[in-house]
Amino acid sequence: MVFTGSGGLRAPPLLLSFLLPAIWEAGSGQLHYSVPEEAKHGTFVGRIAQDLGLELTELVPRLFRVASKGRGDLLEVNLQNGILFVNGRIDREELCGRSAECSLHLEVIVDRPLQVFHVEVEVKDINDNSPVFPMTVKNLFIYESRQLGSRFSLEGAVDADIGTNSLLTYNLDSTEYFTLDVKKNNEDIKSLGLILKKLLNREDTPEHHLLITATDGGKPELTGTTQVKVTVLDVNDNAPVFERTLYRVRLFENAPNGTLAVTVNASDLDEGVNKDIVYSFHADISAEILSKFHLDPVNGCIRVNANLDFEETKLYEIEVEATDKGNPPMTDHCTVLVEIVDINDNAPELVIKSLALPVLENSEVGTTIALISVSDRDSGTNGQVTCSLTPDTPFKLVSTFKNYYSLVLDSTLDRETTSEYKVVVTARDGGSPPLWATASVSVEVADVNDNAPVFAQAEYTVFVKENN
Ligand SMILES: *[C@@H]1O[C@H](CO)[C@@H](O)[C@H](O)[C@H]1NC(C)=O
Ligand SMILES: *[C@@H]1O[C@H](CO)[C@@H](O)[C@H](O)[C@H]1NC(C)=O
Repeated sequence: MVFTGSGGLRAPPLLLSFLLPAIWEAGSGQLHYSVPEEAKHGTFVGRIAQDLGLELTELVPRLFRVASKGRGDLLEVNLQNGILFVNGRIDREELCGRSAECSLHLEVIVDRPLQVFHVEVEVKDINDNSPVFPMTVKNLFIYESRQLGSRFSLEGAVDADIGTNSLLTYNLDSTEYFTLDVKKNNEDIKSLGLILKKLLNREDTPEHHLLITATDGGKPELTGTTQVKVTVLDVNDNAPVFERTLYRVRLFENAPNGTLAVTVNASDLDEGVNKDIVYSFHADISAEILSKFHLDPVNGCIRVNANLDFEETKLYEIEVEATDKGNPPMTDHCTVLVEIVDINDNAPELVIKSLALPVLENSEVGTTIALISVSDRDSGTNGQVTCSLTPDTPFKLVSTFKNYYSLVLDSTLDRETTSEYKVVVTARDGGSPPLWATASVSVEVADVNDNAPVFAQAEYTVFVKENN
């Protein structure tokens, strides 16, 4: 202990040593006050001089002063009335953080004789802090396949106050999909979570916006909120669906290579790869269909890939699949019926079946000379054949049966006038334009008064002419 100044050593060493025990005695009896934090400047804390047993008049002469550890400016003593009052902003949270006890320690010192008093001023908490969530918006990403009862952790709010002022209760704004789960763990820190109580379906609702409110136990209470944005992640729970199960199309035979037959279309309610669709022919598709048609896996266009011949195949039944790229993938299928429409691409054919030659000149009218059959590979009117004969001959065509004709004698013959006839039979179909074929028959007339001469074997020729 060093005493300096003009006054020098005021008390003899003996007196000093006598006084020391008194100081310790005074110091051991602590004064205790309390003040609420955030109290206004000038707020009364305590009659410190009076409570320490000091006269107001001796405060100045004895150099009454207050020292505090650190924050000496927060409280001050009026030397006129000896009252301890608030001199600066006292923020409990700033001084003591979250610890339950918070006090300012003052040392009051007077000289002549030197005395030191200890004063403790408890700073009382007021509810001046709202609960605060770490984030104003919390993003959660949850697969739509998550099961009921799944828990999704959230960070709770913190409240800088203490005691009931920081005791938080939580509330979730009404939603049918989640409930709030608040757990207390060992350190009394609440762990917050959302519990799934209704199955999510991204296709119905891809996002949920929730609001959580934390309310403290102060009077009046303070609140803090956080928004929870739940993004529902897709899983491959929807199969592709063809817009039609059956597509019917008609294509003319001989359609040029590349002709579009039909575009099949399927859609999928999922998103991303789960909705990406690949089109394909069914695995069991026939080699013929595979060669005749091409299916674009991306856009579902089915095009002609080889010549289509009505006379070969009139109807194709094509099974088509749509498969998404999900894992595992899902599939739908449809049927495409391609009806081939005939065009008049086949000329009639003529066949002379049998000939009764030569013809005797006295043969009766109605004698059959040849049998002719006609045919046409086309169908409908394209395949309907009518036959005609060179005019001005003594013959006629008689239809005997469907597509069968007889060449019969229509008037008497006279070998001396005409010994040989060239008969041309024309078969014409009903197409538009029509196609036709001709057959030429040489008919010899034999004399009956002589011995019948022996003719060379009868000859006939068949010409087929197409008009294109
Ligand atoms: C396929 O079907 C979906 C759903 O019906 C539709 O939105 C889309 O436009 C169709 N695509 C084509 C190429 O027709
Ligand atoms: C038809 O076109 C496709 C694609 O250009 C080709 O691969 C195919 O060989 C063609 N078919 C014929 C019969 O020309």
